[in-house]
Amino acid sequence: MIKTLARVTDIVLKAGAAAQKEIKGGLQPAFSGNVQWPVECKVGPGLEGAIACESKVGYVNGSQGALLYRGYTIFDLCAYATFEEVAYLLTRGSLPTATELTTFKEQLNLFRSVPLTLRRLMSFPVEDMHAMAALRLGTNLMRQEFTSRDLNPSRGGARKVIGTDEDSIPMETLPKGTPEAVYQFTRAPGAVNGEEDEQTGYRAALHLLSGVSTIAAAIARVKRGQMPIDPDPELSFAANYLYMLNGRRPTPVEERIMDISLILHADHGMNASTFAAVVVASTLSDMYASVGAGVAALTGPLHGGANEDVMKMLDQIGDAANVPQWFAAKQARKEKIAGFGHRVYKTYDPRARILGPLAREIARDNPETKRMYATAAALEKVVVTTLGKAKGIYPNVDFFSGLVYRALGIPTELFTPTFAVSRVAGWTARVLEYLEHNRLFRPRAIYTGPTDCTFIPLNQRDRKS
Ligand SMILES: CC(C)(COP(=O)(O)OP(=O)(O)OC[C@H]1O[C@@H](n2cnc3c(N)ncnc32)[C@H](O)[C@@H]1OP(=O)(O)O)[C@@H](O)C(=O)NCCC(=O)NCCS
Repeated sequence: MIKTLARVTDIVLKAGAAAQKEIKGGLQPAFSGNVQWPVECKVGPGLEGAIACESKVGYVNGSQGALLYRGYTIFDLCAYATFEEVAYLLTRGSLPTATELTTFKEQLNLFRSVPLTLRRLMSFPVEDMHAMAALRLGTNLMRQEFTSRDLNPSRGGARKVIGTDEDSIPMETLPKGTPEAVYQFTRAPGAVNGEEDEQTGYRAALHLLSGVSTIAAAIARVKRGQMPIDPDPELSFAANYLYMLNGRRPTPVEERIMDISLILHADHGMNASTFAAVVVASTLSDMYASVGAGVAALTGPLHGGANEDVMKMLDQIGDAANVPQWFAAKQARKEKIAGFGHRVYKTYDPRARILGPLAREIARDNPETKRMYATAAALEKVVVTTLGKAKGIYPNVDFFSGLVYRALGIPTELFTPTFAVSRVAGWTARVLEYLEHNRLFRPRAIYTGPTDCTFIPLNQRDRKS
């Protein structure tokens, strides 16, 4: 394991320097300044190339391999900031001052305890569910936390929160359908009453940002036959997540690596899950439904589910010596390799540049992760040599994240939920931004079916005709 925090920072800065070498001519967004709608763009299947909206939240440059959050490179953020600062940056638009950060952390602490949600979630067969299915359910159940009773200002702060012990959880809630239980967005963020106004979705965004991490950790524990652990208000976001998961306070280096991993997954342009969240928000549904849609979209193996597939693949290959034969067979069958390729990046994914060397160093101490890293490194070499320049296929974020998670004690089935825990920051930031100038999403499909069918009564239909 890496011994010092300075070593972690060093790894990040070296990765940043390597990335910088490949950025020639400076970063220039294809669309910048005042956009005149309608914009012209070439659209491919899957809306490839389509411009859905304007955004100041983040920028991905796929040809140069760069990723910015609100103008800051991820290399600087990973070297010098915490996940809480990055979440604030994404959702509020600027890095927080020390006072703003303290308030933000207090709000997150308050929202990290979600006893009612956990109690409701545990009435479902969580142990038999896919962790992402349980997380999606939990996210939607979180919507019920603020029933009329919970809106009562006497609701305790972080230190007074109700434990997840079944007996200490109040059973009573007011009848449903009260105005307080309605969460649709009715105002643009910041328009009236400032950030605390729940009608803007900002409060729900903070609630989800914090609560989803508690739910994800609880799901993992229940699936292992353990009781969920209450958050510790003394710990950071990253440390709390590992603590609620493993029941042990992480070391400062483990905490920092978790922090970096959370930062790296927080936002990534108009990806499938972010788009799903924004589409749902554009109907003025609510933040819980929007984030639930993000979780649903992230579940698939072409998106967030790829990191699980990578670990299965490395297990299947077994050893670095088997890589050439395994890769040749895969190529012969024209099959894709998990953790490689990206719709946007046609060069090295900058997130993989950081996670790769972190994985190498933290995998060293454990024989299992050490062997897996050796297999991954051999596979990376052969794929990049064969498909790198030829097809723009390089490792993506998912190729190394699983190894990092495994070394931090995160079980495989919690890899994608861990991605979601972080991506809530990006989903909510983009939803809040989009709602400032909301326009209901309504693309079209090109109809390619017939137009002249004659109706045949049921008793005269047969498949041949
Ligand atoms: C992410 C992904 C869906 C993006 O794909 P895309 O931009 O739509 O690219 P396409 O599927 O159109 O593939 C373009 C070419 O690259 C090849 N390719 C793409 N990803 C590949 C991979 N992982 N392994 C091998 N070849 C790959 C395709 O076979 C295709 O080759 P062809 O032109 O000879 O047919 C795709 O790379 C993939 O499925 N990767 C594996 C899953 C994964 O890691 N997902 C996480 C993304 S963060």
